[in-house]
Amino acid sequence: MSRLIVVSNRVPVPKGGQPPAGGLAVALSGAMEERGGVWFGWSGDTARHDEASEVRTLERGKVTYALVDLSQRDLEDYYAGFSNRMLWPLFHYRMDLTDFTRVTLGGYYRVNRLFAKLLAPMVEADDVVWIHDYHLIPLANELRQAGVRCRIGFFLHIPFPPPDILTVLPNHADLVRGLAAYDVIGFQTPLDVENFETYLRREKVGRRMSDGRFVIHGRAVRVEAWPVGIETKAFADIAAKSDDNTLVQRMDESLVGKSLIIGVDRLDYSKGIAERMLAFQSFLTLDTEARGKVTYLQVTPKSRSEVAEYAAMEKEVAELAGRVNGQHADLDWTPIRYVNRTVGRNALAGLYRLARVGLVTPLRDGMNLVAKEFVAAQKPDDPGVLLLSRFAGAAAELDGALITNPYDIDGTAGAISRALEMPLDERLDRWRRMYERIAEHDVAWWCRSFLDALEAAPSNGASAE
Ligand code: G6P
Repeated sequence: MSRLIVVSNRVPVPKGGQPPAGGLAVALSGAMEERGGVWFGWSGDTARHDEASEVRTLERGKVTYALVDLSQRDLEDYYAGFSNRMLWPLFHYRMDLTDFTRVTLGGYYRVNRLFAKLLAPMVEADDVVWIHDYHLIPLANELRQAGVRCRIGFFLHIPFPPPDILTVLPNHADLVRGLAAYDVIGFQTPLDVENFETYLRREKVGRRMSDGRFVIHGRAVRVEAWPVGIETKAFADIAAKSDDNTLVQRMDESLVGKSLIIGVDRLDYSKGIAERMLAFQSFLTLDTEARGKVTYLQVTPKSRSEVAEYAAMEKEVAELAGRVNGQHADLDWTPIRYVNRTVGRNALAGLYRLARVGLVTPLRDGMNLVAKEFVAAQKPDDPGVLLLSRFAGAAAELDGALITNPYDIDGTAGAISRALEMPLDERLDRWRRMYERIAEHDVAWWCRSFLDALEAAPSNGASAE
């Protein structure tokens, strides 16, 4: 087995207790701890100097964390700028929120070059390098230019948008050319692969070959959908043992028999949190019987506060929660409990298990692992109901969920009523289908399938034609 080098913008060095932020970290942490290897990327800290030039290494179990501090300017241009004010909104179909500047674009390529310069000397000929997510699309090309010849794979954790949206990006052609330096490219869903294929065809820069591989700018690349999973069995076990968790006990006692509805998301506009609160408000208005009998807990750790759109949204959601509560609360009942903090993995598993309904209603999401964790955590003899947006990548797999359109506020409100009233045999039938799927396609499956494909790829990126 070759040595594995994983590269991602954020490297979640285990700190004990706190869960890592976001799907990428959740998915990769367990897999890396098991397989071992090097995990290279941004430390999360700001360098004191203008240009970061050092890699700090930390050994934890089988993993060597190789960490780079980034300068304030790099963070502003590359992370807060091009990655999170251009690529993130655009790839989530939000052209209205994008902000393109030459300065941030320059910062994006500058940091990718810096990563390549620091990483290239660490790479050995029979290593495999696995690069993750939208921050680092050009990295393989930069590594190739720095002389790296080993197999390099890329996985995109967020959606790949249709060509009409991607071409809004002024440097879309360069970005896609950079993808041709990889040997294997993984997307979350067949829709993402389809969008990529349509882009290549329309822009006349590649196509799917008869053997299923793609040719991109003359280079043969394997492109496939490998939906990210979770550590299903481990998560189910944690949930089953969560009775003695004090946070879970406190929550249970405070419910005094009310049904719990739960939502857990980073504070991000792609998650549809405001629309979800409006749907809950509509549900309270339409389903008068349910008033006083349900509690909606929305756990929402703050995220990317340095980016303007996130700060604006923080205000919007907090005000909305306050307004709904002001309108509907009673002296002894608060309909929405809105909490801006992270909750540890054990407590979270227990809260999912307590819940009658899980609300996962993003406007657009690469996969959404909360949906899978909610399913894994349920009681096998009395499971709760998952309400899942059709625009989450997870909807392609979890057909046992109540699939909703988050733009349809009243429709989502109706689905909440339906979920709360769903009879046990239907809940069981739906849950079993979903659990089987995520037990088989767990994170170990995802990691293994991708790395098998990468190790099987012809070395030196054989030219296709
Ligand atoms: C998503 C992205 C990840 C990112 C995470 C947290 O899951 O796909 O790449 O790490 O969000 O966002 P942050 O900006 O805090 O790293």
